[in-house]
Amino acid sequence: GIEACIFDLDGVIVDTAIYHYKAWKRLANELGADFTETQNEKLKGISRVRSLELILEWGGISKTADEQAVLATRKNDWYVDMINRMTPDEILPGARELLESIRAAGIKTALGSASKNAAVILEKVGLLPLFDVLVDGNSVSSSKPDPEVFLKGAAALHAAPAKCIVFEDAIAGIEAAKAGGMKVVGVGEQAVLQGADLVVGSLEEINIQTLQQL
Ligand code: BG6
Ligand code: MG
Repeated sequence: GIEACIFDLDGVIVDTAIYHYKAWKRLANELGADFTETQNEKLKGISRVRSLELILEWGGISKTADEQAVLATRKNDWYVDMINRMTPDEILPGARELLESIRAAGIKTALGSASKNAAVILEKVGLLPLFDVLVDGNSVSSSKPDPEVFLKGAAALHAAPAKCIVFEDAIAGIEAAKAGGMKVVGVGEQAVLQGADLVVGSLEEINIQTLQQL
């Protein structure tokens, strides 16, 4: 049977992509660069530092490491202002119900996110108590598509990777789960999330039975 379910945060549990987008766009525009929603898509699942590198690259802008650290902090300050105002209304459809039914079935839950703001977000939307373990951007050294974040979650729950199910909305995250030998449910579009074992438009579409059949 299933030993653990590991959830990505941004785009799976809550839709914070819009806040990341607004903050990156403000930064890019201040630097005289453009920032489109298509570019924002490419930043899903990608760490803060790497996201900034890509934005600078796209804008043909060069900054020293020290300058980059200042810019990343500036973006994060704006982002934190926005997430501090989040409420439980921003939980994506089906997320709370699925987490509750997984736990009711005696299966452990972990968060596996690239974000360093994960705990604050879960606290704001009231989902913190539904996770047995949090593995986030503060606890990993390699980012997705490296499987570290998910393997750490599985290890903390004493679960065998082959008996873990990961929920992901980003290509990098699906690759990470597969590299870790786990089953993965993609949340989003089939055409984008090719490598997943199952793709759903939203977590409302799945239940424990669906997961047990994977
Ligand atoms: C991921 C998001 O979950 O976290 C990325 O999909 C984001 O867009 C990354 O860059 C890091 O987040 P944070 O909160 O540490 O800047
Ligand atoms: Mg995500």
